Amino acid sequence: MKVGVPTEIKPDEYRVAMTPAGVRDLTDVGHEVYVQAGAGEGSAIADAEYEAQGAQILPDAGAVFAEAEMIVKVKEPQPVEVGRLRSDHILFTYLHLAPDPALTRSLVESGATCIAYETVEDERGRLPLLAPMSEVAGKIATQAGAFMLEKPLGGRGILLGGVPGVAPATVVIIGGGVVGLNAAFIAIGMEAEVFVLDRNIERLRELDVALSGRVSTVFSSSLAIEELLPRADLVIGAVLVHGAKAPYVVTRERLKLMKRHAVLVDVSIDQGGCFETSRPTTHSDPTFEVDGVTHYCVANMPGAVPITSTYALTNATLPYVLEIAKHGPSAVPSGVNVANGRVTHPAVAQATGLEFVPA
Ligand SMILES: NC(=O)c1ccc[n+]([C@@H]2O[C@H](COP(=O)([O-])OP(=O)(O)OC[C@H]3O[C@@H](n4cnc5c(N)ncnc54)[C@H](O)[C@@H]3O)[C@@H](O)[C@H]2O)c1
Repeated sequence: MKVGVPTEIKPDEYRVAMTPAGVRDLTDVGHEVYVQAGAGEGSAIADAEYEAQGAQILPDAGAVFAEAEMIVKVKEPQPVEVGRLRSDHILFTYLHLAPDPALTRSLVESGATCIAYETVEDERGRLPLLAPMSEVAGKIATQAGAFMLEKPLGGRGILLGGVPGVAPATVVIIGGGVVGLNAAFIAIGMEAEVFVLDRNIERLRELDVALSGRVSTVFSSSLAIEELLPRADLVIGAVLVHGAKAPYVVTRERLKLMKRHAVLVDVSIDQGGCFETSRPTTHSDPTFEVDGVTHYCVANMPGAVPITSTYALTNATLPYVLEIAKHGPSAVPSGVNVANGRVTHPAVAQATGLEFVPA
């Protein structure tokens, strides 16, 4: 198969969807790889490193889309990229279609087969292509939250870990999956007081063991959230219902319960956000304020640390790229969101109001 790797064009996105190791594995088994000139620059990978492993460097995105049968990307396609898709293309990338009916419709119209990293499930129902970026985003969530709590940045002016004789800040993490666990690791490391909420009791048991009882695990109910919000300095939203738009765990009404200049970090923003007052932001302008509460809602948090994220992502995606290159989209049925001009993922169809047709 001819595999194309364009440069990411979303603002402040420095990751790339393939490393020279991936080029080597694909070309070793007879596939061809076309990389856009400069695609790896943001992740400190030079064109020559791709070429050394057998890739052909093409001058621009138009040439990559024209040449390739499968396009491998990081972020959801931007309008100019959707315009380049053909009905015989396979697109393999993060899509996050549930909160984006307009993008879903444009992909349906393209006729391309669109496979979403974030809905690919392994044999145990886990999300192996979301997990590495969730590990990164979880760690950034606490770091960014700690930073935004500093007074000159508009925060309350409290140090996450406190000092001897002065109490630490309180961090409330809603959603104890991969993001939540990693956010908790860093919050514990920074010596904050940490609560993790989830609706899955089995998951709360795992967290209790994984974090050696150093966080308070709480069953996530409306009442539990209402009781914790007035105590929180930093709230991290990290809930996910596979493929679906994120549920609101903090409504606009509940913001009133929070301390002035507390910080909300909505990691679930890529699935539409789990705080009612969230809207997507970028690394260059990451926060805004609603009712005196700072909101940090960067939709591509791992994009800020490409040297970590590019390798973490491609370690996970490469085996699937190889499978799709060999067997076609049927190698990853749970990932196929759009095919033959139809929505083929039930949660995406439900969220966007479009008809669901099994792939
Ligand atoms: N903004 C970014 O840059 C970025 C990067 C990576 C991941 N994400 C997003 O972060 C979110 C979380 O990802 P993850 O990998 O941790 O998912 P995950 O499936 O590992 O964990 C989600 C957890 O949320 C829990 N949950 C669901 N509904 C809940 C509710 N009402 N209250 C409390 N808990 C609830 C689930 O039981 C699960 O444990 C996803 O939306 C993902 O797309 C965003």
